[in-house]
Amino acid sequence: MSQLSSKHLLGIKDLTPDDIQLIFETADNFKDVINRPIKKVPSLRDITIANVFFENSTRTKLSFELAEKRLSADVINFSSSGSSVKKGETLLDTVNNILAMKVDMIVMRHSSPGAPHFLSKHIDANIVNAGDGTHEHPTQALLDAFSMREKLGDLVGKKIAIIGDIIHSRVALSNVFALQKMGAEVMICGPATLVPKYITSLGVKVVTDVFEALQWCDVANILRIQLERQHIKYFPSLREYALYFGVNKALLDRLDKEIVIMHPGPINRGVEITSDVADSQHSIILNQVENGVAIRMAVLYLLAGARS
Ligand code: CP
Repeated sequence: MSQLSSKHLLGIKDLTPDDIQLIFETADNFKDVINRPIKKVPSLRDITIANVFFENSTRTKLSFELAEKRLSADVINFSSSGSSVKKGETLLDTVNNILAMKVDMIVMRHSSPGAPHFLSKHIDANIVNAGDGTHEHPTQALLDAFSMREKLGDLVGKKIAIIGDIIHSRVALSNVFALQKMGAEVMICGPATLVPKYITSLGVKVVTDVFEALQWCDVANILRIQLERQHIKYFPSLREYALYFGVNKALLDRLDKEIVIMHPGPINRGVEITSDVADSQHSIILNQVENGVAIRMAVLYLLAGARS
């Protein structure tokens, strides 16, 4: 198999296990490339990609831009702040105007769940979802699973705990889909108010005791409290959250084994994770960021390859 089963990457839900395997094998090759003195390949010369961000980002935006440049694509960047969106221009008009400039691929982050799926019904260009509201963040889940595979080998039978603010997290949902497709077991852990009721229907274990989750898992993927999406009070205070649901060194020292620590970023240090855990030798948080470039190169390369 040398092609993805879809012309877009809208979510992990739509990918087959073979698609994920192909992305990983392609990313393995690109990881070699970006560790060479000459980090650039001509694969996407003559392809123009627009990074269209309607929501803030550091890692995803820079990682896509670097991936595109490493592949020799032409790149333009759009941020809704400072744009004509502020004058009332619609999403579709904005994207159609960008495409009129002969753009081939759109990488989009949007605060509305389903925004890239909506676009895919109205435009011909390939679309990569860089995070749609609380729905999916497919390239984050791919780089997370790729980083786990790098650390642990085959993910079949591996136990992954996703801990934190699940209800507001697009990373959680995409991780569940990706890890299950790779054969891993998934546990969700957080305060009951931050765990959506539908989650049990996805075949995951659910617990509210962080120590139980840590004792069970091989990898803890710790998610941030999404302060910008908390429109009602889900827990009494950040101090209380840190006390009962934060991952700290004292908890890890009580385990009878060592586990891998991950976090997609940005981190609220001292809330969901303490600095001595985030910066410890068990943490692969910066490896996740490094792998993000290779994974995004692989996704863009494979989608562009399906165009010809
Ligand atoms: N992990 C992640 O999506 O980070 P950014 O919001 O900085 O892109």
